[in-house]
Amino acid sequence: MKPINVGLIGIGTVGGGTWTVLKRNAEEITRRAGRPIQITVVADKNVELAKQVTGGACRITDDAFAVVRDPEVDIVVELIGGYGVAKDVVMQAIANGKHVVTANKALLAVHGTEIFTAAQQKGVMVAFEAAVAGGIPIIKALREGLTANRIEWAAGIINGTTNFILSEMRDKGLPFETVLKEAQRLGYAEADPTFDIEGVDAAHKATIISAIAFGIPVQFDKAHVEGISKLDAADIKYAEQLGYRIKLLGIAKRRPEGVELRVHPTLIPAKRLIANVEGAMNAVLVKGDAVGATLYYGKGAGAEPTASAVIADLVDVTRMHTADPEHRVPHLAFQPGAMVDLPILPLSEIVTSYYLRLRVEDKPGVLADITRILADQQISIDAMIQREPGEGEEQTDIIILTHQTREKNIDAAIARIEDLPAVKGKLTRLRLEELQ
Ligand code: HSE
Repeated sequence: MKPINVGLIGIGTVGGGTWTVLKRNAEEITRRAGRPIQITVVADKNVELAKQVTGGACRITDDAFAVVRDPEVDIVVELIGGYGVAKDVVMQAIANGKHVVTANKALLAVHGTEIFTAAQQKGVMVAFEAAVAGGIPIIKALREGLTANRIEWAAGIINGTTNFILSEMRDKGLPFETVLKEAQRLGYAEADPTFDIEGVDAAHKATIISAIAFGIPVQFDKAHVEGISKLDAADIKYAEQLGYRIKLLGIAKRRPEGVELRVHPTLIPAKRLIANVEGAMNAVLVKGDAVGATLYYGKGAGAEPTASAVIADLVDVTRMHTADPEHRVPHLAFQPGAMVDLPILPLSEIVTSYYLRLRVEDKPGVLADITRILADQQISIDAMIQREPGEGEEQTDIIILTHQTREKNIDAAIARIEDLPAVKGKLTRLRLEELQ
């Protein structure tokens, strides 16, 4: 059977893994795809590296655009990353009638609407399993496996770097900065870790999840993005005492009036399976109305785990490229004409529970004042601890867990609590999800 021809753009970690796995498992993959999948050309600025990885077994170029123009190429694999050249490469590949496989979450979260519209008009596929949670087939699960369900919410540990840092902070009781340096030394965190630690990478992935879960456009600009760089080790400890772990969660939740799309450090009950996902591993919990909660766990990054997702897409495209475009799985799970415009809710309208930590003067009436303010805002307390003041200490920490309330109610309560003379400095607020 005639092979399908792939042009691979970018032969770094994931590209190299894709080359290796495609070669190693060629026979099995051909048996599944129905015909061989062969990389006929590789583009990389580092031509020497490309030669070294491929052993000269295919054509090599330093020009990505030569690949998207190449008449021999059926599928372009874009592994450049970012929104610059990668966007031009993808748009030109589509314009030239090529199918695209990409791991580029940033590109799809920001420019997905333009890309998917162009692909639909041209009748080509843009496949992106590798863009979310690396090797975990979460796109496949959401788009196909759970297709009977009305998805209620999805919550995921979708950034391995931050999960590694949080695991180390909890295990060793170390502050964020110390663990970040260690993560960089071990190669878990990039030299510039901003996208990971500030939650941007997780928000790109959560944005894609929200679109395929609810049939809404990708809207990264409306996501609430909060990372872990300001997280205090003390809060990890207090959370533990209350039976919770802190994880950086990407959350997409459907509510009658809109969608919550948010990334932030989140307390989750320690007894949940997902709370025990440690180190650089990823996991996504999806709640469907028929199936209930389902959990997907695995490696969210790395050469071969990500290649596993890239190649799964290559197989899908190989199987489906001769099908009538209208009978393929829609890019965003819902038929393009059936997308809905459910708004992404502003942060002030989200509904969740809260963890509050305050430094207070240890004297009569302080707690009464605080609980009165919470009651005025209709906020109910779920649990509370007060650290025993040390010898001669006149201040102490109070930690309060609330039941669910609207963010704007807690904002109003916090402003009033911080104004109390007995409350010292700023209050620490974290969000809490029971993930029932
Ligand atoms: N930098 C990401 C992570 C992997 O730490 O999980 C690629 O999305």
